[in-house]
Amino acid sequence: MHSVSHSLKRMGKKIGLVPTMGYLHEGHLSLIKKSLELCDVTVASIFVNPSQFGPSEDYEKYPRDIERDNKLLKEQNVDYLFTPSADEIYPSGYQTYVEVNEISKKFEGEFRPNHFKGVTTIVSILFNCIQPDYAFFGQKDAQQAAVIKQMVNDLKYDIDIRVCPIIREYDGLAMSSRNVYLSPEERTKALFIHKALLYARKLIEGKETSPQTVVDNMRVIFNEEKSIKLDYIGIVNAYGFREVDLLEDGNEYYILVAARVGNTRLIDNELMRLQ
Ligand code: PAJ
Repeated sequence: MHSVSHSLKRMGKKIGLVPTMGYLHEGHLSLIKKSLELCDVTVASIFVNPSQFGPSEDYEKYPRDIERDNKLLKEQNVDYLFTPSADEIYPSGYQTYVEVNEISKKFEGEFRPNHFKGVTTIVSILFNCIQPDYAFFGQKDAQQAAVIKQMVNDLKYDIDIRVCPIIREYDGLAMSSRNVYLSPEERTKALFIHKALLYARKLIEGKETSPQTVVDNMRVIFNEEKSIKLDYIGIVNAYGFREVDLLEDGNEYYILVAARVGNTRLIDNELMRLQ
């Protein structure tokens, strides 16, 4: 990969990277399309990164189908697919990690300790292997994108990070490789998450300025759906990912939800741009 990226750079090509863990869906493909549009060469990576899974999480059973992914990427005319093995990335004796301190500890970080440390470490390794000019991430994982932006700023990577909108199923469920875990009944229950986010959007558009009131109202409607176990609801400033006391015009916020439906943990969010 180093020699490929060095020769591309010598030819003056702009490289776009789309890091993924595979089992691709339209959400991933939207990032690929953006990269194909903006860059001369697009590299997709597929690597189910063991260091970002907790000991009781789904690393082993995470869905994988490299042949199907390969076919989808070929159809999109992706230039390169980088699929290193876990042994190549983390050979025995591996001991270096990249950690973003503050943003990584909240929300997802509270429920998945060390998750973001694994993410920033692998993304940093991918950046070093591929040397991209642009890298594309989904708003679906808004906190992940914020953590990566912080890392890029702090470590002075010369990479333009682009965050692309959430792609949803026809009925509003945010696309995710993990949706395959849902039974048909759970799949219907999971729609509640997006409905709650749209309800919050409506409250804020109706000039509700207190994030606490919005969160409280969302909690009330989640209480009606006992089969969904909330991990958190939060409202943060879209830039620093900090919780706020007041929703103000001219700012952007994320409304965040993480919840478990059966054994499947789902995250979703809504970006609010207040005029
Ligand atoms: P993965 O879950 O495969 O997601 C790869 C990229 O696709 C992420 O940037 C994610 O935010 C984006 N994505 C997922 N679902 C999306 C949707 N419905 N709409 C738009 N974008 C979506 O995120 C990871 O992998 C890993 O943590 C990774 C960054 C590859 C590091 O291992």
